[in-house]
Amino acid sequence: MWRLLNGPPGLYPGALAPLVEAQLKIDASHQKRVLDIGSGSGIWAVEIAETFPHVDVVGFDLAKNKYETLPTNCRFDRGNVELGIPQYRGLFDVVHCRSVAAHLTDPIGLLKSIGESLKPGGLLLLVDGSYNVYGSQKQPLLPILPPFDSPRPPVHEQTTHSYFRGWMEIWKDLAGNGIIPATKSADDIIKDDGQFADDVRTIDLYGPVGWPGHDGTEQELGAILKQNLTEFVQASKPAFLKTGGFSSEVLGEWMLAIDEETDVGHIYTFWTASAGFKKP
Ligand SMILES: C[S@@+](CC[C@H](N)C(=O)[O-])C[C@H]1O[C@@H](n2cnc3c(N)ncnc32)[C@H](O)[C@@H]1O
Repeated sequence: MWRLLNGPPGLYPGALAPLVEAQLKIDASHQKRVLDIGSGSGIWAVEIAETFPHVDVVGFDLAKNKYETLPTNCRFDRGNVELGIPQYRGLFDVVHCRSVAAHLTDPIGLLKSIGESLKPGGLLLLVDGSYNVYGSQKQPLLPILPPFDSPRPPVHEQTTHSYFRGWMEIWKDLAGNGIIPATKSADDIIKDDGQFADDVRTIDLYGPVGWPGHDGTEQELGAILKQNLTEFVQASKPAFLKTGGFSSEVLGEWMLAIDEETDVGHIYTFWTASAGFKKP
């Protein structure tokens, strides 16, 4: 999914590639290091280690990664970033953190830890999703929430409103603090931390769900995102039921509408990928 969403070279959006490559270019006087916070399966850390074999890469996560064998320049540490990561202070040329902030009770505190782990002049790569949903012209869509009209009107091209945006509206409250760019622009969040220079660069990544989109992205991306979205909606249903605010019937109707919307509605989900340099 990320390879398709980013486009080449795949590990980050192409527009940020020169920044990463400059940061990681071989320097005989100084060992280059990358940290991936919330590394999950470990795929990003392993692939960056393979791409830059002269760089030492550390993946850090609460959970175990999926790999049996690793490139010699890659290792994984286990731990909770919310307890602080002083063991990494000032060590890294690049710190990458993707889709982690939404899992934390204090997403802003994450930036403090990232900044402290970077060398002066080091590069932050922060990637996060948003609760916002966009229409085919990339216009923000408004939430449709129950009670739904009866009979529910058939879903056509979504131009102003979205059932999935409605689902995310409720999920936002259930999931806690939420995702960084949902509350403020990613640029401002990073700048406001105080450790980073003002020239933060943010790339918008629009993910077409169930269709190819207008940006020349591959059909495969739409299919992957449709599957991810469907699995997410199914997995989050118990949390909706637990609130006591929605009957099983209403949720069933809602899920059906989301399914139709992602077949014919031409919606985009949205991520941002930001690059910021730690002040010298
Ligand atoms: C959605 S996954 C993203 C994984 C990976 N960054 C990627 O993009 O494929 C979120 C990851 O954050 C990790 N995580 C959540 N809270 C964490 C914490 N407090 N400390 C360290 N890792 C955490 C989870 O274990 C999970 O692997």
